Amino acid sequence: MTAKIIDGKATSERIRAEIKQEVDVMLAEGRQAPGLATVLVGENAASQVYVRMKQKACAEAGIESFGYRLPEDASQQEVEALVGKLNADSKVDGILVQLPLPAGLDEEKVLNAISIEKDVDGFHPVNIGRLAQKGREPLFIPCTPHGVIFLLKEMLPTLEGVNAVVLGRSNIVGMPVALLLVRENATVTICHSRTKDLQSVVRQADVLVAAVGRPEMVRADWVKPGAVVIDVGINRVEAPERKRGYKLVGDVAFDEVSQVAGAITPVPGGVGPMTIAMLLRNTLRSAKLAGK
Ligand code: GUN
Repeated sequence: MTAKIIDGKATSERIRAEIKQEVDVMLAEGRQAPGLATVLVGENAASQVYVRMKQKACAEAGIESFGYRLPEDASQQEVEALVGKLNADSKVDGILVQLPLPAGLDEEKVLNAISIEKDVDGFHPVNIGRLAQKGREPLFIPCTPHGVIFLLKEMLPTLEGVNAVVLGRSNIVGMPVALLLVRENATVTICHSRTKDLQSVVRQADVLVAAVGRPEMVRADWVKPGAVVIDVGINRVEAPERKRGYKLVGDVAFDEVSQVAGAITPVPGGVGPMTIAMLLRNTLRSAKLAGK
């Protein structure tokens, strides 16, 4: 069996084109453009790349972006003061503080300081709390998890009653993906470093979401034939044959798992581009909620 390749890049391009159309209409009507503020603290190389990609995507969609950088040794007070200033700025509809923050900064306090109306990352405790509770609606859903669910819904007629296994329990991906799957009425198992007999638990999955940050950890014999596999991992591994000296691989051994799975996302070109599309969607939604 050879899996269908789930093309997140193509899907994200479609979503971004729709967003651009809506923004073009706003601008043609003389309304203010949606605005996203990005906050990058320190010098993390991967974070710099991600923030640049987010700003470029904003520009392409007609969304204004305001880039803020603080040094590695910025104080908690400085970061929170910047967030406070952005909360009060009517040009800014979304505030994105790129994670991880440098050691020594209190991430929870920074995320708490973001106005929930501008929490386009969906990481504010109120938004996450609402996501976790029945009958409550978060204002914004975290971008990568939302991208995962979007791709799954394109592949499967329903997630109801499906056995879903989430590999990883991070605040950014694993836990919110699991919460979203529960909201879709899937039967969800969250696996992590202490899970016993991991391989056989993973093998029960009709839907597998891998988000552990371990290069090619999931092998073909871990995967139920026909399963839908969403690979959230983006891992740099040495590749001397490449000009850059490294290549990007997922948490899933793509070449062998694609012989067993029913459908699979590639890395790159799977979930990654969906994160950005969902960020733009949340920013546009925030601008509309603000009456723009
Ligand atoms: N770091 C890794 N993914 C994300 C994300 O979606 N948002 C933010 N703010 N930081 C991240």
